[in-house]
Amino acid sequence: MLHINSVVKKFQRGKNHIFHALGPVDLRIGDGEFVTILGSSGCGKTTLLHILGGFETPTTGSVEVDGEAVVRPGRKLGMVFQEATLFPWKTVLQNIAWPIEQRGVRRPDALNQATEYLDKVGLHRFGMVYPHELSGGMRQRAALARTLAMQPQVLLMDEPFGALDAQTREEMQEELTRMWQSSGLTVVFVTHDISEAIFLGDRVIVLGGKPGTVIEDCRIDLPRPRSQATKSDPKVLEYRAHFWELLRRASAN
Ligand SMILES: Nc1ncnc2c1ncn2[C@@H]1O[C@H](COP(=O)(O)OP(=O)(O)OP(=O)(O)O)[C@@H](O)[C@H]1O
Ligand SMILES: [Mg+2]
Repeated sequence: MLHINSVVKKFQRGKNHIFHALGPVDLRIGDGEFVTILGSSGCGKTTLLHILGGFETPTTGSVEVDGEAVVRPGRKLGMVFQEATLFPWKTVLQNIAWPIEQRGVRRPDALNQATEYLDKVGLHRFGMVYPHELSGGMRQRAALARTLAMQPQVLLMDEPFGALDAQTREEMQEELTRMWQSSGLTVVFVTHDISEAIFLGDRVIVLGGKPGTVIEDCRIDLPRPRSQATKSDPKVLEYRAHFWELLRRASAN
């Protein structure tokens, strides 16, 4: 349902220089799939995600959701940025109610619905506080709840757990997989962390090279639901070695 057709991105740098950052990239992502995009810094992951979300236009090529071209940000595609983006002047609950009110739901009903999303991310006790009173991990949860409240079909996540400590990060990974399994959402999750890509994904897409292109599209054959025990599955070690080698070769070129 998410079609990426020969997407290329070139940036103008200065007056006379055009920098070819990405592509051509062709991908088909199915309904309800959890796809992770893995690649080293600068290979074009954020650029690709921004194009998928309609935040940037491709130089050539196109993106379609359910056969409809993505030309600007819309409700079907929800984005969670690397740095949690919340309105600082609104409480956590008001932040989450905002996209619901944008759909025309009256404030009291929107606040009620927002409470449900807050529950989903384990922040039910923090509705009345302001974002600056939360820890980084909690802010990231609140941002996720606000994006879920948009009721998108596709959730786009750009290294959302990059700034978290190792333990919180693992908790968030497990929570996200639980939420995804009960929601039927399609998720495209960008990371440069090999273990995270394997743990989360049905499929790992490796971006590499200059310009960045798809150098591997690998199905991850690990049972669900996944837990910390999954990480000691011998297959995980094989996948790790495989992706490590791919990234090493990509950065050597
Ligand atoms: N607006 C822009 N103008 C010029 N060049 C850009 C622009 N945005 C990105 N680039 C370049 O495109 C390339 C890809 O950038 P991008 O941010 O997509 O990388 P990334 O894979 O997300 O890296 P990271 O893992 O560090 O976040 C980089 O070389 C970057 O310098
Ligand atoms: Mg990036």
